[in-house]
Parts: sequence; structure tokens; C-alpha cells
Amino acid sequence: DHYVVAIDGPSGSGKSSTSRGVAVRLGLRYLDTGAMYRAMTWWMLRHDVDVHDPNAVAARVEEPEILSGTDPLGPTILVDGIDVGLAIRSDEVNAAVSPVAAVPSVRSRLLEIQRDVIGEGGIVVEGRDIGSVVAPEAEVKVYLTADPAARARRRALEEGGADVEATRESLLARDAIDSGRATSPLVMAEGAVHVDGTAHTLDEVVGLVVQLVEA
Ligand code: CDP
Repeated sequence: DHYVVAIDGPSGSGKSSTSRGVAVRLGLRYLDTGAMYRAMTWWMLRHDVDVHDPNAVAARVEEPEILSGTDPLGPTILVDGIDVGLAIRSDEVNAAVSPVAAVPSVRSRLLEIQRDVIGEGGIVVEGRDIGSVVAPEAEVKVYLTADPAARARRRALEEGGADVEATRESLLARDAIDSGRATSPLVMAEGAVHVDGTAHTLDEVVGLVVQLVEA
């Protein structure tokens, strides 16, 4: 029925693979809220909005139409009808997304869309503020971490062999902004279970979260 699993954590901790695996195993839908922040950022860059000017971003926040598909086997993200699944993973978006996500009206706009999607039924939702702000009523909350070296290696591999040291710096820079911002910073939510994935395979972490749900 209406089961909500919240998975939060820093960049590259394995949230996406874990969340999708859990959703598939439990027959739930899946929502990647990070992809929505990335989509908003992609739209701002594309419309030449100065992403480091919060007022400029706030002035246009209502314009993009953002639509997330929730199939864990093939998640999709459309902005104004354009499939941006690949474009939102670019270096330009990586560098701009944390400042855009720190703008309060960006967060309130996306929160509304996220709550609508969650309201439609059982779902695994991943992000930074799911257990604390988006779905504090979630039945299971996980705070997923891994040590920075493991996160950088994983993300560099996902990006097709990017430089590990540059990737590490980019992840840590985003972590610092995401944890330090005034609105909905990355924190471990009340009632969350901390899972450190560093020494575990993806299957093991998925199994652990499924056990929490079935407990
Ligand atoms: O994939 P990765 O963990 O690197 O990041 P992501 O989940 O795609 O999220 C990209 C960025 O969106 C984060 O660095 C945050 O700035 C922002 N974000 C957020 O503020 N709140 C969320 N619930 C999800 C993402």
C-alpha cells in the first residue's frame, strides 16, 4: 500500500543504486529528488540565469515544468518535455547544482512536486532532506554514507573513468554546501538508521535496507 522509504546521504554514497534495488525488490516506485534539483539547474544554465545569484534563480523558479518517471528499472526526468537524463550529469550541472539547491524557493517549488508524487502510493525516495523535511512520516529512514575515497572511486567509474582526485574534490565541495546551507541542510533525520556502505557490496546494502523494511 502506501509505504515510504527515505534514503538520504552525501554525494556518491550509493543512494541511487541502493534505492532502485530496494524499490525493485519490494515492488515500490522510486523517486530521485537529486535529479529534480539537477533538472532545475540544467534549465537555469540553459536560460543563461546566473546560478550564483539567488535572486536571479528565484525569479525564474516557477517556469520549468519538471516531470519525474518513477519506474526503478528505468527512471526518467523531463524538463519542458525534454529528456535530460544524461544532460543533468554534466560537469556544468555538478558545479552549479548545490548553489541552486540552496535557494529556498527552489526547494519549496520542488517539495510541492515531490509531495504530489509521494502521495500517489508506495515509494522509495532518495535525496538529502527526505527523512527530515519531504517525508518525515516515512516508515523507514536510512542515512547512507561511505568514506570519501570509496565515494570518489565509485562516482569516477560511473562517469566513465573520470579523474578520481578531481571527482573527490567536486563531491566534497557539494557536501560542504549541502551540509552548510540554511534551508533543509543535509542532516541525519530523527529516527534514521545509519548505514555505512564502505565495506559492503550493493547487494548487501540493498539486503540490509530490505530487512529494515520487513522488520
Ligand atoms: O548523485 P549525487 O549523490 O552526487 O547527487 P544528487 O542526489 O544527484 O543531488 C545533486 C544535488 O542536489 C545535491 O548535491 C544537493 O545540492 C541537491 N539535492 C538537495 O539539495 N536535496 C535533495 N533532496 C536532493 C538533492
